[in-house]
Parts: sequence; structure tokens; C-alpha cells
Amino acid sequence: MEEKYFIKTYGCQMNVYDSHRMAMMLEDMGYQKAQNQSEADLVLFNTCHIREKAAEKLFSDLGRALIIKNERAERGLKTIIGVAGCVVQAEDEQILKRAPYVDFAFGPLTYHRLPEILKQIKNKKESGVVDTDFPPESKFDFLPENKAEGGCSFLAIQEGCNNFCTYCVVPYTRGVEYSRPVEDVIKEAKKLIATGTLEINLLGQNVNSYHGEDQNGKERNLAYLLNKMAELDGLKRLRYTTSYPADVDDDLIKCHHDIGILMPYLHLPVQSGSNKILKAMNRRHTRETYIEVVQKLKAANPKLEMSSDFIVGFPGETDEDFEETMDLVNKIQYIQAFSFKYSKRPGTPAATMENQVPEKIKKERLDILQTRLFELQDKFNQKCVGQVFDVLFEQNGRHKGQLIGRTPYMQNVHAVASSDMMGKIKQVKILSATTNSLTGKVI
Ligand code: 5AD
Ligand code: SF4
Repeated sequence: MEEKYFIKTYGCQMNVYDSHRMAMMLEDMGYQKAQNQSEADLVLFNTCHIREKAAEKLFSDLGRALIIKNERAERGLKTIIGVAGCVVQAEDEQILKRAPYVDFAFGPLTYHRLPEILKQIKNKKESGVVDTDFPPESKFDFLPENKAEGGCSFLAIQEGCNNFCTYCVVPYTRGVEYSRPVEDVIKEAKKLIATGTLEINLLGQNVNSYHGEDQNGKERNLAYLLNKMAELDGLKRLRYTTSYPADVDDDLIKCHHDIGILMPYLHLPVQSGSNKILKAMNRRHTRETYIEVVQKLKAANPKLEMSSDFIVGFPGETDEDFEETMDLVNKIQYIQAFSFKYSKRPGTPAATMENQVPEKIKKERLDILQTRLFELQDKFNQKCVGQVFDVLFEQNGRHKGQLIGRTPYMQNVHAVASSDMMGKIKQVKILSATTNSLTGKVI
């Protein structure tokens, strides 16, 4: 009987991409996707370390995995439990201490070694294998070819970060910046398109600092790559995420004018509206330079709308600093955003800064910010009622005969649609809207 795998993914889109690549690798090795954890011979947790809560979730899920492993053992079934991702890179020893039944663990840069590690474990040579190398080789050179899972795909073009924002673990877990060569990216994109992708979202922790080499060894920027991508036959939608405001250059801004398939929606995390806090965060932008970049982008494409990330309660943040964040939110009129309470991460400079903000104040500020962000999101969604959008259908709806798709602005749209429309782009007239989604009719 074929063995089955189950992967649970936490955190960012890069982890979603990594999990997909690991799943492809396992399928190449003969594994099949399990419907649930209890039928899986291999359970893999792909983890996130960005905030404390995300990391803690892993340990409660591992406890549950052990119970399932024991239940399966009573039925005479073996279970391998593995942990991947950023928690491993940051806390490898903790994992084996707190969950000694974990069979293997590896960081985000070494998952191409999965077949090798599984072989070691199955031959009973090793257990508790941990691999947190920052390897000299690029995992991308060792992974089997990527395949599309639907109409919409992620494609990692860059990894790691050299920015060292004082609150962030990414430079420590994902390492220094690495950009994949242009030709590798184009090859993967062609494969994704050939297997059914209409939309590609180019991924990187700091995607707009992309500097991959072309065939002649010349370093090329993200704008060059976007233009190359736009030439690909069959690609209908193009996105890139996540960008760093200070690295948005004029070439990139021009892309938002020139490239028709580049979607009019950009995630550009600002984190705070206060220059004092931005400086303490070691961000290389001010509120003024950020606003200027947004203005230039909107001048390049007047239809462009923005989304962002925010942190409230960073050490030293006063009521006045927070007011500046609220003021920026109202100036930019984000149509969508993520916001978080500052979370102390071990080993980062901000964790030991003075003037840590009490939890109660963080919570109050987060409530105020999120209320306003949801209002703005709702306002934009309501404005969409009566308009017609291209919608790429991606998943089944809750009711039979319904599909859920996305507009160019990433809003979810529920519509009555036949199953053959899955993975396709259709014109949809928006009939109603809530804060979180739209309902429409295929025309
Ligand atoms: N605490 C809270 N939020 C954080 N982020 C990153 N590190 C932290 C932290 N220590 C947020 C930032 C980033 C997003 C991915 O997560 O807003 O843009
Ligand atoms: Fe973290 Fe800052 Fe790099 Fe983003 S830019 S990954 S927040 S260090």
C-alpha cells in the first residue's frame, strides 16, 4: 500500500510555497496526500517563528500528533513526525527537548534533503535528525520541477533578508539574501503555466531587492524580471510580494504603468507611521518617503490600491506615535492590511529595548487600528458593488454549484459557477459586499 503524507503549514506565503515543493518531492517518492492526519504515515509541520504565538502553536500541535502516533501504533501503523521551517532554524534544540518523539527537523534552506533524511530514518540508522545548515548550495537546484496546483501559483524568486529590522527573526531564520537566476525563474514559470497556472505571484522576503543573474552573468532587478514574465504566453496575471518600501525604484514603478498583467494591488508594509518608531525599527523609510513612493506608484497606475503590515506597541511607542500610524492609515486608505501586536523575539535587538509597551495598551491600540482598517476594507468592498471584475476561480464554495475566486484586488468573490470554471478567469458582476468578501454573478 502506498504511504501517505500530511503537511500542516503555518505562517507566510513562502511557507505555503515551500510546503507545496515538499509535497511534490514526496509525491515523486511515491507518497500520496492524506485526507487527514490520522491516515498519514508521514506528518510534517512547516513552521513559522515570526511571532511568539505562531511558534507556540507548533508545540500544541506536536502534542496532538504524538497522541495520533500512539493510536496508530496500536493499529500496528508506524508514523514519522517531522518539523520544517523557521522554528527549527531558531530553536532546534528546544524542539527535541520539548518533543523528543520528533523523528527529524530541518530549516527552510535544507528541505531539498528530505529524501535523504527519510531514507536514513527508515533504515533505522538515525532518529532525531536535525539539519539547520545554511548550506552553500541552493535548494532550488536540487528540487524536482514545480507543478501547478490550480490557476494560481506562488513562485519563490528570492529568499532571506539583509535588512535586519530590529523586531524581526527573518534574517536569522532565512539567512542572507539570495536571488535565483532569471532563467531558473522563467523555466519554473513556464512549467507552472504549462500545468494550468494563469496567475503567478513572485515571492521573496524582500522581493524588490531581487538581483538575480541573467544568462550572461549580469545582475538584473525585479523590473527586468517582471518584464520577462510579462512576455510569457498564457500568463494572465502577475503579482509580487513582499516589498520593502525603500527598495521601490523607478524601474519598478514604471512596471505598474507598462505591464498590463501586473495586478493593480500592492502589499507594501509600512509597520508604523511614526518616524521615531521607524528609526528604532531600523526601517530605511520615513512616513514622508513612504507616502511619496505610494504617490508615484498611484501616478503610474491610477487604479492601484495598497495593502500593508503594521506593528503596534513596538518598544517606546507613545500615544502620539500611534496617532501618527492612524493618520497614515487614513492618508493611504489601505484596502486590506495585517496588523500585529509587537512580539518579543529572542535574539533580536528590540527584545531587550527599554520602554516595552504593556500588553493592555498593545491590545487597545490593535483594536483601534483593526477597527479602522476593517472600515476601510469594507468601504472599498462596498464601492465594488455594481462593478464587473475578472475573477479567477480557485476553490469550491460552501454551497454546491458555487465557486470562490479572486478579483485583481485579491478580494474573495462567491458566485454560482459550474465546476468547469475552476482555475479559469470569468467576468463577474458584483452584487453585494461584506467586509471580508463579495458576492457576484458570472456574466
Ligand atoms: N512582532 C510582531 N509582528 C512582527 N512582524 C515581524 N516580526 C514581528 C514581531 N516581532 C510582522 C511585520 C511583518 C509581518 C510579516 O510580520 O509586520 O511585515
Ligand atoms: Fe523582517 Fe524587515 Fe527583512 Fe521584512 S524587511 S523580512 S520585516 S527584517
